[in-house]
Amino acid sequence: MPPPPYAQRLAPDLLAWWDHHGRKDLPWQRDPTPYRVWVSEVMLQQTQVTTVMRYYDRFMAAFPDVVALADAADDAVLHLWSGLGYYARARNLHRAARVVRDEHGGVLPADFAALASLPGIGRSTAGAILALSGGARHAILDGNVKRVLARVFRVEGYPGDTAVAKQLWELAEACTPDQRVAHYTQAIMDLGASLCARVRPACGLCPLQPGCEAQAAGIAARLPARRPPKARPHRTTVLILARRPDGAVLLERRPPTGVWGGLWGFPEAADVGAVAAWCRDTLGTDPASTRERPVLQHAFTHFDLDMTPVEAELPDPPPRVMEAGRYRWCDPRSPGQLGLAAPVTRLLAALAEPGMPYTSAPDATTPP
Ligand code: ADE
Ligand code: SF4
Repeated sequence: MPPPPYAQRLAPDLLAWWDHHGRKDLPWQRDPTPYRVWVSEVMLQQTQVTTVMRYYDRFMAAFPDVVALADAADDAVLHLWSGLGYYARARNLHRAARVVRDEHGGVLPADFAALASLPGIGRSTAGAILALSGGARHAILDGNVKRVLARVFRVEGYPGDTAVAKQLWELAEACTPDQRVAHYTQAIMDLGASLCARVRPACGLCPLQPGCEAQAAGIAARLPARRPPKARPHRTTVLILARRPDGAVLLERRPPTGVWGGLWGFPEAADVGAVAAWCRDTLGTDPASTRERPVLQHAFTHFDLDMTPVEAELPDPPPRVMEAGRYRWCDPRSPGQLGLAAPVTRLLAALAEPGMPYTSAPDATTPP
């Protein structure tokens, strides 16, 4: 897909705003060497500008270059990071500094791929370092930029989806100008951190408003889309209702852990076709007939279970051999004082009264 027309206009509109309103006096904007920009970008990954300002100069004074950082003790680095939080960032920074010292001659690589492969530096941070320190044309896509682009170009999907991320990267590439890349990079981050705020964006003051599709549609505040709720996993099982000619049905004690741990339930099979073989293997006899009953659904906290009961009529004489303690026969009309899982109680009642639907229990959710 060709980039939307406004991708061409975005940088000029943004830069005109930034020239008047942008911040040009942040500590890391003074002498923006790759090392200084790198440290600032890592600090800014999860921390606000105002907080980073209180840590940055102190950190740079202690570790003025990559080799000084690489040579420092872990504790010294973590001490000066203390308060910024997300300490994995500091540990990665330190590890990356050692890689730079040992494998890149103490100079942060100018090659994008080499830079992006260092610990804690991904595609966006590598792009930001090269763009902000040297004006090289690289796109960035941090959280602020994702928000701006998702809104301006009305990208409605969840940015955590690969396809949506790919679309946003393409837009980020298309919007990055050939000239003034460093200013543009700073400007789009600044816009996302200020006017195009996550809640209540100040669209009335925004230089991109003329091209902003989300603002035009009145949906700016709900973009980018939040992570969709995880679909509950759905599992299926087959319950084997093995019945003796006298009507008794076989129960199995469930393993002590897991759902219904230690309760009595029906033996299970992976699918309907496996029921006869189960009877043969476990009871030493083929069923005289099998009959599938309607699916029973049960909602657990973390998944939904669809149970297909299969009634297996056992022939005369009834089988006797079975592991003591693990299996028992149960008369559905008088199950006695057994610990039974709720769906099992319901199925036993249905077996006792063949006309009784097992939707009668209050928590039952059985389809018609
Ligand atoms: N967030 C990440 N990098 C930033 C930068 N250079 N300026 C402002 N906010 C940022
Ligand atoms: Fe963000 Fe509003 Fe500007 Fe669009 S117009 S980029 S939603 S601040």
